[in-house]
Amino acid sequence: MSYIQAENLIKQYGAGEAAVTAVGGMSFRIKMGEFVAVMGESGSGKSTLLTMMGALNTPTSGEYSVDGLGVYELGQDQRADFRREFLGFVFQSFHLVTYLTVLENVMLPLVTVKTNGRTKRAMAEDALSRVGLDGKAHRLPGQISGGEQERVAIARAIVNEPPILLADEPSGNLDTKTSREVMDLLRSLNEDGMTIVMVTHSPECAGYARRLLRISDGLLVEDIPINGSAINLECWSTGVMD
Ligand SMILES: Nc1ncnc2c1ncn2[C@@H]1O[C@H](COP(=O)(O)OP(=O)(O)O)[C@@H](O)[C@H]1O
Ligand SMILES: [Mg+2]
Repeated sequence: MSYIQAENLIKQYGAGEAAVTAVGGMSFRIKMGEFVAVMGESGSGKSTLLTMMGALNTPTSGEYSVDGLGVYELGQDQRADFRREFLGFVFQSFHLVTYLTVLENVMLPLVTVKTNGRTKRAMAEDALSRVGLDGKAHRLPGQISGGEQERVAIARAIVNEPPILLADEPSGNLDTKTSREVMDLLRSLNEDGMTIVMVTHSPECAGYARRLLRISDGLLVEDIPINGSAINLECWSTGVMD
Protein backbone atom coordinates (compact mmCIF):
# COMPACT_ATOMS: atom_id res chain seq x y z
CA MET A 1 0.00 0.00 0.00
CA SER A 2 1.40 3.39 -0.91
CA TYR A 3 1.01 6.64 0.96
CA ILE A 4 1.25 10.38 0.88
CA GLN A 5 3.30 11.13 3.94
CA ALA A 6 4.16 14.35 5.74
CA GLU A 7 6.60 14.47 8.65
CA ASN A 8 6.77 17.67 10.68
CA LEU A 9 6.13 19.80 7.62
CA ILE A 10 6.86 23.48 8.24
CA LYS A 11 6.44 26.49 5.98
CA GLN A 12 7.49 29.99 6.88
CA TYR A 13 7.09 32.92 4.54
CA GLY A 14 9.51 35.82 4.81
CA ALA A 15 12.37 36.10 7.27
CA GLY A 16 13.30 37.73 10.55
CA GLU A 17 10.64 39.71 12.34
CA ALA A 18 8.38 39.69 9.30
CA ALA A 19 8.36 35.87 9.14
CA VAL A 20 4.94 34.22 9.06
CA THR A 21 4.62 30.57 9.99
CA ALA A 22 1.83 29.36 7.70
CA VAL A 23 2.28 25.66 8.49
CA GLY A 24 3.87 25.02 11.84
CA GLY A 25 4.72 21.31 11.87
CA MET A 26 2.22 18.88 10.38
CA SER A 27 2.54 15.11 10.25
CA PHE A 28 0.03 12.80 8.62
CA ARG A 29 -0.31 9.87 6.30
CA ILE A 30 -2.92 9.51 3.57
CA LYS A 31 -3.48 6.16 1.89
CA MET A 32 -3.83 6.06 -1.87
CA GLY A 33 -7.53 5.95 -2.68
CA GLU A 34 -8.66 8.09 0.26
CA PHE A 35 -10.95 11.12 -0.06
CA VAL A 36 -9.85 13.69 2.52
CA ALA A 37 -11.40 17.06 3.35
CA VAL A 38 -9.29 19.83 4.87
CA MET A 39 -11.06 22.53 6.87
CA GLY A 40 -9.92 25.48 8.94
CA GLU A 41 -10.32 29.20 9.42
CA SER A 42 -9.15 31.68 6.84
CA GLY A 43 -5.38 32.06 7.08
CA SER A 44 -4.92 28.77 8.93
CA GLY A 45 -2.56 27.40 6.28
CA LYS A 46 -4.80 25.24 4.08
CA SER A 47 -3.64 26.57 0.72
CA THR A 48 -0.02 26.50 1.84
CA LEU A 49 -0.42 22.87 2.85
CA LEU A 50 -2.05 21.98 -0.44
CA THR A 51 0.60 23.67 -2.58
CA MET A 52 3.32 21.88 -0.58
CA MET A 53 1.48 18.62 -1.22
CA GLY A 54 1.30 19.59 -4.88
CA ALA A 55 5.08 19.92 -5.22
CA LEU A 56 4.58 23.62 -5.90
CA ASN A 57 5.85 25.17 -2.68
CA THR A 58 9.09 24.05 -1.02
CA PRO A 59 8.71 23.51 2.73
CA THR A 60 11.02 25.36 5.09
CA SER A 61 11.67 22.02 6.77
CA GLY A 62 10.19 18.58 7.18
CA GLU A 63 9.72 15.57 4.94
CA TYR A 64 7.14 15.05 2.24
CA SER A 65 6.90 11.87 0.23
CA VAL A 66 4.49 10.24 -2.18
CA ASP A 67 4.75 6.53 -2.67
CA GLY A 68 8.09 6.60 -0.85
CA LEU A 69 9.52 9.29 -3.13
CA GLY A 70 10.94 12.35 -1.30
CA VAL A 71 9.32 15.02 -3.48
CA TYR A 72 11.50 17.93 -2.34
CA GLU A 73 14.67 15.91 -2.65
CA LEU A 74 14.10 15.85 -6.42
CA GLY A 75 15.69 18.39 -8.73
CA GLN A 76 13.44 20.92 -10.49
CA ASP A 77 13.06 18.86 -13.67
CA GLN A 78 12.34 15.63 -11.87
CA ARG A 79 9.90 17.41 -9.63
CA ALA A 80 8.07 18.75 -12.68
CA ASP A 81 7.96 15.21 -14.08
CA PHE A 82 6.63 13.96 -10.77
CA ARG A 83 3.93 16.63 -10.74
CA ARG A 84 2.89 15.77 -14.26
CA GLU A 85 2.68 12.08 -13.56
CA PHE A 86 1.17 12.01 -10.08
CA LEU A 87 -0.79 15.20 -9.48
CA GLY A 88 -3.78 17.13 -10.65
CA PHE A 89 -4.38 20.52 -9.08
CA VAL A 90 -7.59 22.56 -9.01
CA PHE A 91 -6.76 26.05 -7.80
CA GLN A 92 -8.88 28.30 -5.64
CA SER A 93 -9.79 30.41 -8.66
CA PHE A 94 -10.17 28.36 -11.81
CA HIS A 95 -7.25 29.90 -13.72
CA LEU A 96 -8.82 29.16 -17.10
CA VAL A 97 -7.23 30.93 -20.03
CA THR A 98 -9.99 33.20 -21.33
CA TYR A 99 -8.95 33.24 -25.01
CA LEU A 100 -8.55 29.47 -25.30
CA THR A 101 -11.51 27.17 -25.84
CA VAL A 102 -12.62 24.70 -23.19
CA LEU A 103 -10.88 21.90 -25.10
CA GLU A 104 -7.66 23.90 -25.47
CA ASN A 105 -7.68 24.71 -21.75
CA VAL A 106 -7.97 21.03 -20.91
CA MET A 107 -5.14 20.21 -23.34
CA LEU A 108 -2.73 22.68 -21.65
CA PRO A 109 -1.10 20.18 -19.24
CA LEU A 110 -0.37 17.94 -22.23
CA VAL A 111 1.90 20.49 -23.89
CA THR A 112 5.02 18.80 -22.54
CA VAL A 113 3.72 15.26 -22.97
CA LYS A 114 5.36 13.40 -25.82
CA THR A 115 2.37 12.17 -27.80
CA ASN A 116 0.80 13.33 -31.02
CA GLY A 117 -1.86 16.00 -31.26
CA ARG A 118 -4.63 13.59 -32.09
CA THR A 119 -3.99 11.52 -28.95
CA LYS A 120 -3.85 14.65 -26.80
CA ARG A 121 -7.11 15.82 -28.22
CA ALA A 122 -8.70 12.45 -27.51
CA MET A 123 -7.39 12.58 -23.92
CA ALA A 124 -8.88 16.05 -23.43
CA GLU A 125 -12.20 14.99 -24.98
CA ASP A 126 -12.25 11.99 -22.66
CA ALA A 127 -11.60 14.19 -19.60
CA LEU A 128 -14.38 16.56 -20.68
CA SER A 129 -16.72 13.67 -21.09
CA ARG A 130 -15.87 12.40 -17.59
CA VAL A 131 -16.94 15.75 -16.15
CA GLY A 132 -20.09 15.83 -18.31
CA LEU A 133 -19.04 18.60 -20.67
CA ASP A 134 -18.96 16.82 -24.03
CA GLY A 135 -21.02 19.42 -25.80
CA LYS A 136 -19.06 22.48 -24.64
CA ALA A 137 -15.57 21.75 -25.95
CA HIS A 138 -15.51 24.62 -28.42
CA ARG A 139 -16.90 27.34 -26.19
CA LEU A 140 -14.74 29.95 -24.52
CA PRO A 141 -14.70 29.99 -20.69
CA GLY A 142 -16.76 33.21 -20.76
CA GLN A 143 -19.52 31.37 -22.62
CA ILE A 144 -20.20 28.74 -19.96
CA SER A 145 -21.50 28.90 -16.38
CA GLY A 146 -19.40 29.07 -13.21
CA GLY A 147 -20.13 25.43 -12.39
CA GLU A 148 -19.10 24.42 -15.89
CA GLN A 149 -15.88 26.43 -15.56
CA GLU A 150 -15.15 24.55 -12.36
CA ARG A 151 -15.68 21.28 -14.18
CA VAL A 152 -13.32 22.42 -16.95
CA ALA A 153 -10.72 23.11 -14.25
CA ILE A 154 -11.28 19.59 -12.92
CA ALA A 155 -11.09 18.09 -16.42
CA ARG A 156 -7.78 19.89 -16.92
CA ALA A 157 -6.51 18.53 -13.60
CA ILE A 158 -7.40 14.93 -14.49
CA VAL A 159 -6.47 14.91 -18.18
CA ASN A 160 -3.17 13.15 -17.38
CA GLU A 161 -5.08 10.62 -15.29
CA PRO A 162 -3.06 11.43 -12.17
CA PRO A 163 -3.53 9.16 -9.15
CA ILE A 164 -3.87 12.20 -6.86
CA LEU A 165 -6.17 15.21 -7.17
CA LEU A 166 -5.66 18.26 -4.95
CA ALA A 167 -8.53 20.74 -4.95
CA ASP A 168 -8.49 24.10 -3.16
CA GLU A 169 -12.07 25.14 -2.43
CA PRO A 170 -13.45 23.64 -5.64
CA SER A 171 -16.97 24.80 -4.82
CA GLY A 172 -16.01 28.08 -3.17
CA ASN A 173 -17.93 30.33 -5.53
CA LEU A 174 -20.72 28.00 -6.58
CA ASP A 175 -24.37 27.86 -5.58
CA THR A 176 -25.57 24.86 -3.57
CA LYS A 177 -26.94 22.84 -6.46
CA THR A 178 -23.86 23.34 -8.64
CA SER A 179 -21.54 22.64 -5.76
CA ARG A 180 -23.35 19.32 -5.12
CA GLU A 181 -22.82 18.42 -8.78
CA VAL A 182 -19.11 19.16 -8.44
CA MET A 183 -18.97 17.08 -5.22
CA ASP A 184 -20.78 14.18 -6.95
CA LEU A 185 -18.16 14.39 -9.68
CA LEU A 186 -15.29 14.29 -7.17
CA ARG A 187 -16.93 11.38 -5.38
CA SER A 188 -17.21 9.41 -8.61
CA LEU A 189 -13.56 10.12 -9.47
CA ASN A 190 -12.66 8.85 -5.99
CA GLU A 191 -14.79 5.76 -6.49
CA ASP A 192 -12.81 5.13 -9.67
CA GLY A 193 -9.67 5.09 -7.55
CA MET A 194 -8.38 8.66 -7.49
CA THR A 195 -6.95 9.92 -4.22
CA ILE A 196 -8.53 13.30 -3.42
CA VAL A 197 -7.51 15.97 -0.94
CA MET A 198 -9.99 18.84 -0.95
CA VAL A 199 -9.96 22.10 0.97
CA THR A 200 -13.46 23.29 1.73
CA HIS A 201 -15.26 25.74 4.00
CA SER A 202 -18.51 23.83 3.66
CA PRO A 203 -19.44 21.06 6.12
CA GLU A 204 -21.80 19.67 3.49
CA CYS A 205 -18.98 19.38 0.95
CA ALA A 206 -16.72 17.84 3.59
CA GLY A 207 -19.45 15.23 4.06
CA TYR A 208 -18.57 13.83 0.63
CA ALA A 209 -15.10 12.94 1.91
CA ARG A 210 -14.28 9.98 4.14
CA ARG A 211 -11.81 11.69 6.42
CA LEU A 212 -11.47 15.17 7.82
CA LEU A 213 -8.28 17.01 8.66
CA ARG A 214 -9.02 20.20 10.56
CA ILE A 215 -6.27 22.72 10.86
CA SER A 216 -5.95 25.76 13.03
CA ASP A 217 -3.08 28.25 13.10
CA GLY A 218 -0.94 26.06 10.90
CA LEU A 219 -1.39 22.94 13.02
CA LEU A 220 -3.39 19.78 12.56
CA VAL A 221 -5.94 19.81 15.37
CA GLU A 222 -8.31 17.05 14.31
CA ASP A 223 -8.10 13.95 12.13
CA ILE A 224 -11.36 12.01 12.09
CA PRO A 225 -13.27 9.64 9.82
CA ILE A 226 -16.47 10.90 8.16
CA ASN A 227 -19.34 8.51 7.67
CA GLY A 228 -20.85 9.79 4.48
CA SER A 229 -23.44 12.26 5.74
CA ALA A 230 -22.95 15.98 6.23
CA ILE A 231 -20.78 16.44 9.27
CA ASN A 232 -22.07 17.83 12.52
CA LEU A 233 -22.19 21.60 12.29
CA GLU A 234 -21.62 21.93 16.01
CA CYS A 235 -18.05 20.83 15.39
CA TRP A 236 -17.60 24.14 13.62
CA SER A 237 -18.90 26.47 16.26
CA THR A 238 -15.53 28.11 16.73
CA GLY A 239 -14.42 30.65 14.17
CA VAL A 240 -15.33 31.33 10.58
CA MET A 241 -14.46 28.60 8.15
CA ASP A 242 -12.72 29.24 4.88
N1 LIG B 1 3.14 33.89 -0.47
C1 LIG B 1 2.95 34.27 0.80
N2 LIG B 1 3.78 35.17 1.37
C2 LIG B 1 3.62 35.55 2.66
N3 LIG B 1 2.66 35.11 3.47
C3 LIG B 1 1.81 34.20 2.96
C4 LIG B 1 1.90 33.74 1.61
N4 LIG B 1 0.90 32.85 1.37
C5 LIG B 1 0.21 32.75 2.54
N5 LIG B 1 0.75 33.56 3.48
C6 LIG B 1 0.30 33.68 4.88
O1 LIG B 1 0.32 32.38 5.45
C7 LIG B 1 -0.82 32.17 6.26
C8 LIG B 1 -1.61 30.99 5.72
O2 LIG B 1 -2.16 31.33 4.45
P1 LIG B 1 -2.93 30.29 3.54
O3 LIG B 1 -2.13 29.05 3.44
O4 LIG B 1 -3.31 30.99 2.29
O5 LIG B 1 -4.23 30.01 4.45
P2 LIG B 1 -5.70 29.55 4.05
O6 LIG B 1 -5.65 28.91 2.70
O7 LIG B 1 -6.09 28.61 5.15
O8 LIG B 1 -6.55 30.79 4.06
C9 LIG B 1 -1.58 33.47 6.26
O9 LIG B 1 -1.17 34.22 7.39
C10 LIG B 1 -1.13 34.14 4.98
O10 LIG B 1 -1.24 35.53 5.08
MG1 LIG C 1 -6.71 29.27 0.94
